[in-house]
Amino acid sequence: MSPKVKSASNGYCRVCSARISSFMSFGRMPIANGFLRPDGTENEYFFELAPAFCEACGMFQLLEQPDPQKMFHEQYAFYSSTSRYMQAHFEAFADAAINTVLAGRDNPFVVELGSNDGIMLRHFKERGVRHLGIEPSANVADVARTQGISTISAFFDRRLANEIATDQGSADAILAANVMCHIADLPGVAAGVQRLLKADGVFVFEDPYLGDMITKTSYDQIYDEHVFIFSATSVQRAFARFGLELVDVMPQITHGGSMRYTLAPRGSREVSKKVNEQLAKETTLGLDLAETYVQFKANCENSRAALMQTLERLRSQQKRVVGYGATSKSTTVINYCGITPAHLEFISDTTPIKQGRLSPGAHIPVKAYDEFTKSYPDYALLFAWNHAAEIREKETGFVGAGGRWIVYVPEVAIVS
Ligand code: TYD
Ligand code: ZN
Repeated sequence: MSPKVKSASNGYCRVCSARISSFMSFGRMPIANGFLRPDGTENEYFFELAPAFCEACGMFQLLEQPDPQKMFHEQYAFYSSTSRYMQAHFEAFADAAINTVLAGRDNPFVVELGSNDGIMLRHFKERGVRHLGIEPSANVADVARTQGISTISAFFDRRLANEIATDQGSADAILAANVMCHIADLPGVAAGVQRLLKADGVFVFEDPYLGDMITKTSYDQIYDEHVFIFSATSVQRAFARFGLELVDVMPQITHGGSMRYTLAPRGSREVSKKVNEQLAKETTLGLDLAETYVQFKANCENSRAALMQTLERLRSQQKRVVGYGATSKSTTVINYCGITPAHLEFISDTTPIKQGRLSPGAHIPVKAYDEFTKSYPDYALLFAWNHAAEIREKETGFVGAGGRWIVYVPEVAIVS
């Protein structure tokens, strides 16, 4: 029996259809990756960014999400391969799959959902592993294709799963990184995975982890694309309905704290004891309790007050402050806190497609990295905090010149 599916929330849980309501609002938000041309600020799209927690199934989700076509399109500004660390991370993810689940299999087939510019699949391609990427954003999919990585531009669902299974056979492994949390119709994707996976196959995905977001008050994980923030508890329950069992979990440091989940057809694999340990940790953290989210809201408000106090003080002292990394996450911080071009001179970013554009909502100019190094500011607000180790190692020149970092996760602070 297939559960009743609601891909648009309308006040109902997107996974289990229980009634849900938001516990807070981040206010009017633009598209997180919607960087604007300076002459294109009219008719900017806004929606209300309001998260909800389903007490019935434990799923943390957005009540309202813009139409996917507004977020993932031919101009999608997000290229995975911009960070050296992330490149190494995806090579390791691919190696782990090749050395465990695919080892010893005859002509295995790997499918990646949301394969972006091919940052992970290229490692399968290089070793001659049969692979297929599914990437709805045509511009990033083109980058992958020009590198010989087999990619189709489409949204994954049961129908597409059926087509792939018929044409190319069932998959030994289905992988997804930072993509499952993007897809509002989780039941539709789960049904597709169930259809496409071999009886002894695995589905491995990773996404920002709810436990990290709650403990670090990293509310900037909440933006249009992240319709879900998962926990082991919510993942286990959501996929059980499709005959998929959570058999392993592995915490990751990427994206400010992520979790990798391994699922397999029920009964086909031993369940690691780490699964029960993680579920117990989540109970201790109170991830299943509504009051945890009431506290989270208060923590967000305190974080906002502290950050704005710092930025107002530096503004009154006429310090030069810039943003570092025009991340998707920064759109939530900037618009929720009320950061304006009066607080930040510009945001430095290494992604060419973002440069020369204005940040969504607040219209802070995004400039090339050269602008940052050419004349170091007094302070840099570290929006790309998930890459803090890589960046602070790289930017010893900035700190040597007297520059200071403003950070806001897990707390607002000025550090050198
Ligand atoms: P990312 O980590 O993907 O965060 P999000 O998912 O919130 O968008 O984005 C990092 C952004 O920061 C990306 O636009 C590239 C930029 N960046 C720099 O400008 N310099 C750097 O050294 C690094 C690592 C990233
Ligand atoms: Zn639910």
